[in-house]
Amino acid sequence: MRAATLKGAQRALMSACMPAPVAARARTLASASPAVCSCSYSSTSSSSSPLATLGSSLGLCGRQQRPFARINSSSSARSRRALRPLATAAVEARRGPAAPAKDQVLTSDPANNVTEYIYSKMGINLHHQPNHPIGIIKQAIYDYFEQGSPGVFKAFDDMYPVVACTANFDEILIPADHVSRSPNDTYYVSADKVLRCHTSAHQAELLRTKQPAFLVTGDVYRRDSIDATHYPVFHQMEGVRIYGPADWEAAGLEATAFAERELKSALEGLAKHLFGDVECRWVDAYFPFTEPSFELEIFFNGKWMEVLGCGVMEQVILDKNYGEGHKAWAFGLGLERLAMVLFDIPDIRLFWSDDDRFLKQFKAGDLNSKFKSYSKFPPCYKDMAFWVSPEFTENNLCELVRGIGGDLVEEVVCIDNFTNPKTQRTSNCYRITYRSMERSLTDEEINGLQARVRQGVAEQLKVELR
Ligand code: DAH
Repeated sequence: MRAATLKGAQRALMSACMPAPVAARARTLASASPAVCSCSYSSTSSSSSPLATLGSSLGLCGRQQRPFARINSSSSARSRRALRPLATAAVEARRGPAAPAKDQVLTSDPANNVTEYIYSKMGINLHHQPNHPIGIIKQAIYDYFEQGSPGVFKAFDDMYPVVACTANFDEILIPADHVSRSPNDTYYVSADKVLRCHTSAHQAELLRTKQPAFLVTGDVYRRDSIDATHYPVFHQMEGVRIYGPADWEAAGLEATAFAERELKSALEGLAKHLFGDVECRWVDAYFPFTEPSFELEIFFNGKWMEVLGCGVMEQVILDKNYGEGHKAWAFGLGLERLAMVLFDIPDIRLFWSDDDRFLKQFKAGDLNSKFKSYSKFPPCYKDMAFWVSPEFTENNLCELVRGIGGDLVEEVVCIDNFTNPKTQRTSNCYRITYRSMERSLTDEEINGLQARVRQGVAEQLKVELR
């Protein structure tokens, strides 16, 4: 049985790590070489499931749930820190100089729920690597918008991932009681700062710089379940384009109808640019920051697959941050999700691999490579049953397991649960699948990890092992 799909933190006063002003962080698409990650800014304003089920399982922007498309709430609980960091030397070596300072992210603030493991991923910036699948897709999207509207879109590739709650939620109209604000779902650095959970966190800020069109790519962070399509860090791209009365008047259309038409034609074009001559369809959706809202689906590999979420920007966001009398569209997409489908990458952990057998299979500018598995090592299953407590959440379990097992953990699934009719206590049994993408694991190694997971669960999750 698949548990309810295992669903489901300051920078001290900004000074040392204050992000560079927005204008200094953008670059024109026109000046972007395919090998960019570069943050070769110009001086003016040029400047984050198995495939068969991917379409429906990853959600719009890279995760199964669509937090901004729903309004119900789930249980929230303070998370616990994982037992120990799992940053390998290799991973450490990949962190760029722009990685946030540790004491700015792993603070002693009582609201902080960021783990060492999550911190170890900051600054790696897969989207900055031109030959990495994530960098390749990013660049292909930049190229598409540059070809269609030369010099119009500005790209922002290195916006600082620690953002104010106001930017991540309030300024884009996410309700105060929305589930995505829960510390069960989002990493808080402090009560008023989070690791951005979507690139929409930069919408209002960039609107205030009066950019008429922009693309923001960055790493985003979400507490979630563990399986082949879920990873607590992934990459998104946000796109925004603003129009004035001259635009819709010239087209003889009312403003919203004009923006909707432009949005749909731009994004259908994008889908075809990435996936070839695919059939597209539009599905009505809900996002707090757009009205109307849509999801774009494409028919690919024999099934309909969601590609992105989008819509006409809520007028109040535009009026407040850009100025009145305009109209805009916005979209957001998950880069891992698109890359898994496009390149046949079966497991989201592979994106973080520094194994040449993975990395050498992809080249900047090439959207046609298909991943060839270099070997499949055997999985090792470990089951663990415990009486849950009211505080228990599956996201907390997954965080703990990932903190101990790192990328050796392939999946965490609830395989059984029952409630004792007399005591009303509920027992859950979880199966942890350990498998390395690179080598065979020894019994000793797995047993050691599992022993530490059991200890961590007992000590930190307020549950009683059986
Ligand atoms: N921020 C949304 C998410 O992460 C994705 C999204 C949907 C962005 C619609 C947008 C939009 O700009 O218009 O789920």
